[in-house]
Parts: sequence; C-alpha cells; structure tokens
Amino acid sequence: MKHLMIGLLAAIMAMTALAQSNRADYRVVPLPSEINGIKTDDFRLTSDCLINYPTGNLEMEHNAIMLSQYIEELTGLHLSTRPSLNAKDRQGNISLLLVPQMDSDEGYSITTTSRGVEIAGKTPAGVFYGIQTLRKSLPVVETAQVLLPAAQVSGSPRFGYRGMHLDCSRHFFDVETVKRYIDIMALHGMNRLHWHLTDDQGWRIEIKKYPRLAEVGGWRNGTTLGHNSPVNDGIRYGGYYTQEEIRDIVRYAAERYITIIPEVDMPGHMVAAMAAYPELGCTGGPYEVWTLWGVTDDILCAGKDQTLQFVKDVLDEVMQLFPGEYIHIGGDESPRVRWQECPLCQQRIRDLGIKAAGKQSAEARLQGWFTTQVQQYLAQHGKRIIGWDELLDCDIDKSATIMSWRGAEPGSQGALLGHDVIMTPVGPLYFDYYQTSKTWNEPIAFGGCNTLKNVYEFEPVAADLPADKRHHILGAQANLWTEYITCEPQIQYQVLPRMAALAELQWLQPEDKDYQDFRARLPHLVDIYKHYGWTYRAKSLILEDESNPQN
Ligand code: ACM
Ligand code: ZN
Repeated sequence: MKHLMIGLLAAIMAMTALAQSNRADYRVVPLPSEINGIKTDDFRLTSDCLINYPTGNLEMEHNAIMLSQYIEELTGLHLSTRPSLNAKDRQGNISLLLVPQMDSDEGYSITTTSRGVEIAGKTPAGVFYGIQTLRKSLPVVETAQVLLPAAQVSGSPRFGYRGMHLDCSRHFFDVETVKRYIDIMALHGMNRLHWHLTDDQGWRIEIKKYPRLAEVGGWRNGTTLGHNSPVNDGIRYGGYYTQEEIRDIVRYAAERYITIIPEVDMPGHMVAAMAAYPELGCTGGPYEVWTLWGVTDDILCAGKDQTLQFVKDVLDEVMQLFPGEYIHIGGDESPRVRWQECPLCQQRIRDLGIKAAGKQSAEARLQGWFTTQVQQYLAQHGKRIIGWDELLDCDIDKSATIMSWRGAEPGSQGALLGHDVIMTPVGPLYFDYYQTSKTWNEPIAFGGCNTLKNVYEFEPVAADLPADKRHHILGAQANLWTEYITCEPQIQYQVLPRMAALAELQWLQPEDKDYQDFRARLPHLVDIYKHYGWTYRAKSLILEDESNPQN
C-alpha cells in the first residue's frame, strides 16, 4: 500500500512537472508592457488547433504561416492555417486579427482564454510582434500539448527605429548568413537592417552600369593579419551580391517587417570603387582594393563632375533595389588632404565661393556641398539620407538624419539643431568591441569593451535634451563592423546575447527596465538560440565582469 502511494505520488509529481515544463511563460525579452491574468483555465495548444487569419490579406496569411512554422520548430506541433473572418471559427483556435482602433502602429495584444487565443495589432507588423512574443513564450520541447496561461498580454515599442547594422565589405557573408541575421533580428523585434555594402576593402553590390565595381572592386589581394600588421595573408578574397540576390534578401526582410537601409559610404571609404575606376579619385590612381584596416587619405574627387554623375548613377540602381525611405550615404572618416592638393577640388571651392567658417575648413564645407548634391538628388526621388555624425561638421541640411557614433553627444547636438538622430555610439553599441575586459579567451575583436550590462543600461535620450527636441531621437542601433569577424558563428557570438539587451532598450520605457529581471528572463531566450544552433557568448549569462566603468 505504502509503495502504491509513493508510486502514485511520484506519478502525480512527474505529471505536474511535465505540465509545468509545457507551460508558456509570457515574461520574454523584450518584456511585454502588460501581462494580466484572466480567470479561466489555460488554453490547450495542440496540433488540432488552427491558425485563422483575415481572408484575402496576404501579409496576415504570411504571418499565420510564420507562426505555424515557429510553433513547429520549438514544440514539434504542426498547426494548419486557414482564412476566416468568422468569429465562431475562433473557438479552440489561434486567430490573427487587425484592429484599426489600436493606438500603436507596431503594438500588439495577445488575449488568451480557455476558449482561444487572439493576436491583434493595428497593422500586420504589430501582429507579427505579437507572434514573436508568443513564440518566445513557448517551452522548447517536443510535446503533444502546450498550456498557454489565460492572460491579457500587450506591448508596443518605445522607438520606431530599432536597428542592427552589418558590415559585409570587410568580410563578405553569403545570402543564407544575411537571412539568418534577419531571422535573429526578427526574434528580437527589430525593424531596420543597416547594410554596409561598400568600403575600401570590398565593393559588394552589383551595379549594372559600372560592372567593374563588383568584378574588380569586389576582390582584394590579401587581408592584413592581426590588428593591421605589416603581414598580409596574400589570399585573394572577395565576393558580391547580384541584384537578384539583393532583391531576394530585401523581400525576405520585408516578410519579417524589416526595412533594409543600404549604405554606400562616400566620399571616403571608396578605394574599392576607385580601384575599379581610378578616374574617380583626385590623383587618378592607380589604386588597389585595400588590404589594411583603418582610414586612407584617398577619397572621391569632389572637383570632377564625373564623380557626382557616378554617384547618381550608382544611387539610381540602389534606389531601384531598396524600396525603403532611407539611403545611408556614410560621410565618416573622410580626410581632406587630397582635396587640399587637388587643383580640381580647389577650383570647385573657388567656383562655389566656399569659405572656411568657424571650425569648418573650406574642404569640410566642400564635403557639405557634395553631400547636399546627393541629398537633393535623392530627395527628387522621394528618398531621405542618413549620414554619420561627421556630417554635422560640414554644414548640411536639417533633413539629413544623423547617425551618432563618436559617442552620444553628437546625436544630442544634432537633435538640438533639428536633425533626426539614430543613436549608435561606440560605447556601448559597437558590437564588434569585446564583451568583457577579460579578453584572453575571446575571439579577436576590434578592441574596447561593451558588456551586456553596458548595453542594457544605455539611454538614447540624454537627460538634458529639451522636451521639444526629444522626438528627434528616432531610436538606437548596434553596429557590427567585420574587420575581425570572418564567419557566421563569430557574427552570432558578437551579437548574442547583447542583442537581447538592445531589444529591451528599444522596446521598453526607461522606468520599466530592470537589469536583474532581464537576466532572469534571458536563459529562456538563450534556450531558443541553442535550439536554432546559433552561437552566443555563454559567459555573459554568468554574473561576472558585468560592468565596464569606462562606459
Ligand atoms: C564608423 O564607425 N566609422 C562610422
Ligand atoms: Zn579632387
């Protein structure tokens, strides 16, 4: 009898544990702004449930397919999708709904009772974020049934611009790797991929009018070893995306509500293009696709009309490929020594009557003129520019959005002047930096130290920014430069789990952030990383080396 009792007890305990481990937990990353229990039983999610979506809405149909795929990936349950506008069909099922009265364009709500689950948003993007929240709440376990606690769950992002950057020039990554990066962004509720496609060390986008850009500019004759040593590996290295591949990636991102912002960096960081077309430079070359890292003095010649025509022709094709509102035109790290010595650049300065003003040299203002030409050309085609914060040093129009990277202060200054701003300061949002000060067992990185905690605690809107300027801070983004990143596992290692901390600061109001609470929620997200086979920095989950006092 006693044995029977113990056996029964053990069986009950095992069943309870099983039920517990099969229960969803809505306390995900980023944390929903509201999780309120509802007094009904749990919803039983099984493969008998259907996913309803509004009849005739292709985006919502795609959302339904994505949700079905996510549930199957994490739990093995296969749910079919079906078009339906009929309220009766919601009984026992998951239903995706568009609710135009909802406040936030990207907000979501998930209402779960024993009778069904409704994921609602004002837009399909909002519904998609509800889907991501439900996905992240699921147990990662092969099972016949998941219990979804009855609750009202909702969230909406603090910032409209929630970005990640990827440099595919310094190292080239294939289409599948870029798509997986997009998948990782989608899991974290991000919506802008800043794609760095051109630089001194490699031109990565096919331009039909200038085929040598990819054929010549896409390849270098070696890569420096270590941090810019005199030794280079002598191995020819390169690659580029065809326009067809780019369209495919843009479509893939759009299906996940991610807009790609292409960057064609100018007038500096252009040596790969000048290796292909040496007449674009002040000296006429010859130039070689660069095998070192850093900043070179060779930049586009602003004195030649031909250079501006080249830039416009390239941007014509870029605009065709990327439907988003923004094109990033770089503008960083453009030394002016060549322009000081170039007769054509000096002639341009005289012709335009450009004069040094305050801290701005005549050559700095020439960069302002050059950028303005590009800005106006893009504006005629309905596009806006983003540029690095150096643009603030060279007299440009307020309609340029500033990406603040040399700290957060340039961004605040830009906002005071009336520019829109995206915060990507080196500390703590350069994810090519180390994640610990104890670097000895880390893969080689650029330098610096931006810990998980530093990222979490970053506040994009400076406390002293006046109330009427705060709306200019559109959001935050982390940058991943790839001088030292050669393969996909290394990409993932650098961004995970720091992207989780970034996601939370992009979504949550500052007063709702809590680092210890975030750390308690992180392991489940990491279980999802593991499940997908993504590489991440496991040591960041251990409470060690949390804080870099320099940040
Ligand atoms: C930059 O890191 N040069 C924008
Ligand atoms: Zn010149």
